[in-house]
Amino acid sequence: MGKELAKQKEIKILGIETSCDETSVALLTVRNGNISKHNQILSNKTKSVVRRAQLDPSSQFEVRLVKHYIATQIPIHARYGGVVPEVAARTHVAELVSLLDKTLSLSSSHVVRPNRPTSKVDFDAIAVTQGPGLATALRVGIEAGKVLAWSLDKPLIAVNHLEGHLASAWLEPANRKNWEFPILFLLVSGGHTELVLMTDFGKYKILSRTRDDAAGEAFDKTAKMLGLEYPGGPKLSKLAEEGNPTAYDLPRPMIHDASLDFSFSGLKTAVRVLLQERFMIKDKGLKIKPTQLNDLCASIQAAIVEVLVAKTVKAALQSKPKAFAVVGGVSANKMLQVELKSALRKKCPEIKFLKPAKGLHTDNGAMIAAAGLWNIIANKKLPKWEKVDAKPELDL
Ligand code: KG4
Ligand code: ZN
Repeated sequence: MGKELAKQKEIKILGIETSCDETSVALLTVRNGNISKHNQILSNKTKSVVRRAQLDPSSQFEVRLVKHYIATQIPIHARYGGVVPEVAARTHVAELVSLLDKTLSLSSSHVVRPNRPTSKVDFDAIAVTQGPGLATALRVGIEAGKVLAWSLDKPLIAVNHLEGHLASAWLEPANRKNWEFPILFLLVSGGHTELVLMTDFGKYKILSRTRDDAAGEAFDKTAKMLGLEYPGGPKLSKLAEEGNPTAYDLPRPMIHDASLDFSFSGLKTAVRVLLQERFMIKDKGLKIKPTQLNDLCASIQAAIVEVLVAKTVKAALQSKPKAFAVVGGVSANKMLQVELKSALRKKCPEIKFLKPAKGLHTDNGAMIAAAGLWNIIANKKLPKWEKVDAKPELDL
């Protein structure tokens, strides 16, 4: 049964994220003076109404993260030295039901739709990660989203995980005040390294990407060579704080190349060779003293950060954005934040540096809910929930 929507100044979005090794659910409320839900579009087979809200992107949004749960699977995958897709999917199933229950206080309805779940918490739409990510893991979130869309008569928004990372910066109130297009993003995660120019909500131009490994992968794989537990990125950056970044001479791949593209596989090889030549003791394996380990970590981090900063500055000078933000798991790296800020201040002081939203660097449901809202702002046609499927290779 379709239900007419009164004009509303508030939208409540449920966000679901299961693309890799974090299960996360969020409930996000967005208000602004100019929200008017005016378009009742598209009724699907069950005659539920998909609503489209018209938001005025230029006005200030009041965003409130009402609930946010993140269940990390890192300790589980650390045992295997990396994410095992089948284990990730099974763990998502177990975690997601309980997180959804905590967020929505689900119960079984015997009135409106017998034996279908119902929610004690009202909301307007469900945003779920469609891709990129691990196919089996993505499907857990998508199937849960579909069940909720069907049983609660809510529209389902299929969200691009990468757009979610961009939206994580928008969740920081101070950033929304300086949200002026075009905005340059350095998106650095475990699977992606891209420079993206956002010219409007839903409009992205990819300026460059990595030709092989992502920055997060470079951190994780070199950390693994050093014997650090998965995911090695945060551990390597912690040890780097005590080390000398010039102790070992490592390559800065493509730093002087004319293109804005990245490449990190050469750095990985250089670290492997260095370890074999300098630290491999016959029949005993690697022998690295704690101070040497700190120096190795600092040198690897410096090589990765230097390339990311150089390419970002080059992109900023070419595309002349109004603002810049660094997002994705690797944006949690302190050295990267500090170096980006100082280089941009020096080379293009007119560009506003948007600080990454605290605690939202790595995968989370809040950024998926926010990107779901961006889909509404951009007036994107929402799919019928029956048609939503995982897109493991999705790009922006
Ligand atoms: O965005 P994210 O949670 O997942 C993907 O979408 O891939 O990013 C995870 C990546 C991992 O490679 C992890 O090692 C890296 O982010 N990471 C870091 C730091 N914190 C997380 N890398 C360097 N320094 C950090 N502090
Ligand atoms: Zn991610």
